[in-house]
Amino acid sequence: MRRVRRIAHLSDVHLLDPKPPRTTSRYKLATGFVSLSRPLDVRARARKLYRAVRTAKAAGADHIVISGDLTEVGSDAEFEHFAEVLGSCDVDPDDVTLVPGNHDAYTTGDGWRRALAGPLARYRASSASETGKLVDRGGVVFLPVDTSQFQSIARSGGEFTREVFEAIDRRLSDPALRDVAPVLVLHHPPFGYGKNHVWQWIDGLRGFGRAIELLTRHPRLHVLHGHLHKVVDRIIGGLGRSRVFGAPATVDDREGVTPRVRLYDVHGGVLESVGLVAT
Ligand SMILES: [Fe+2]
Ligand SMILES: [Fe+2]
Repeated sequence: MRRVRRIAHLSDVHLLDPKPPRTTSRYKLATGFVSLSRPLDVRARARKLYRAVRTAKAAGADHIVISGDLTEVGSDAEFEHFAEVLGSCDVDPDDVTLVPGNHDAYTTGDGWRRALAGPLARYRASSASETGKLVDRGGVVFLPVDTSQFQSIARSGGEFTREVFEAIDRRLSDPALRDVAPVLVLHHPPFGYGKNHVWQWIDGLRGFGRAIELLTRHPRLHVLHGHLHKVVDRIIGGLGRSRVFGAPATVDDREGVTPRVRLYDVHGGVLESVGLVAT
């Protein structure tokens, strides 16, 4: 097994269906709504994913994490397009960890499962699938978690279930993981919106306290997330170093400039953020 020394992190690529059905405007309406003000440019979004992954490789990353909202509404055609573009990037599928985001579950409740059984099958072994999944890469173990849920396009929340908490807690208590860097990968940030209960219901991660509890119980645990479309560095606990990292949205990258890809170097069980590839 190749030992991972540098991780690249990108997120929120929001790929579209290159051939949306002409007979129905449902897809158009849904994508128009969830895309907010972002242009629905199929090719530009595909190019951004390709350039981000190639940039990650060129920066020396030996593992790439893409933390959700891989597609705009999670249709089968969008997942196929995502797989096609990622497949064209010339990266070993075992070197890529994928998790779904809220956008990946807007069409059906099992779109992600179907994608892993179909176009994304090559990435299944290293991506979010069964509860408590652990992807061992030498000095790093990735714990990819699916926080997505089938819901109205008017909501964007997720859930961190008790079952996931218990499975990961058990995993992290294994003494064999004492000297490695454990990395929880999920789409939603593991935080709440404080007293803003409405926004918490619309956009928050239900059960986020369980993720915080894991970070508290396991001081070497790191989190890589997306969803906020911006860079996040959060210190949790008294060790004085960031352990929660959010990546910007690839869909918001500007063309003609270097894609914004986060990089982390792995030293003795710790992820050190070495910043973004130049913006
Ligand atoms: Fe997103
Ligand atoms: Fe999201």
